[in-house]
Amino acid sequence: LFTKKRDVTELPLLERAKQELTNVTIAKDLPKDIKSQLTMSNLTENDLAILRVLIPEVKTNAESIVSNFYVNLENEESLRKIISNNSTVDRLRITLEKHISEMFDGKIDKQYVEARHRIAVIHARIGLEPKWYLSSFQDLLNSFFAVIDASSLVAGDKVIAINCIAKILNFEQQLVLE
Ligand code: HEM
Repeated sequence: LFTKKRDVTELPLLERAKQELTNVTIAKDLPKDIKSQLTMSNLTENDLAILRVLIPEVKTNAESIVSNFYVNLENEESLRKIISNNSTVDRLRITLEKHISEMFDGKIDKQYVEARHRIAVIHARIGLEPKWYLSSFQDLLNSFFAVIDASSLVAGDKVIAINCIAKILNFEQQLVLE
């Protein structure tokens, strides 16, 4: 009658994440609001450890995630103009790939937050409207869904993985759209 609750420690993803716990940090000296945002989002060091386990999966697919991102952006004429007036897709591919790899690195500190505030200022300066900024984040989430779905993780682990990715992507949005 009752489904036995699965012991989460059996999950390979979480087993591997435990081994990554020593490599992750949420800095103690973050601004008060940022700490509260992390608490409200329930984004914890456990999540950062899980994200670190996903690094190989993300690395393997980074090129296609990033290419897809710009193909998608260029469908919107106004965004195509912003890019050609300010940069090139080839240059942006490199910066976005670096940015994505930092999201999985397992370290949220003042530097991480400040770097994102600078990126927000850059995007505001080029006139990127929040609605496009947000849709492009959804594009990234869509790509991550596809990558995790195609991975060899068991179904339960896929849900855990996607939850962590959604949390870090939402945190990124909190930092750049404030
Ligand atoms: C620059 C990330 C969305 C256009 C950058 C940089 C990063 C970045 C890391 C480099 C900043 C630096 O020079 O230090 C992201 C992320 C996005 C996003 C994570 C959302 C998920 C967009 C969108 C556009 C865009 C939707 C559409 C036009 C640009 C341009 C630059 C830039 C033109 C170069 C600005 C300059 O060098 O003056 N972005 N971006 N970005 N981004 Fe984005």
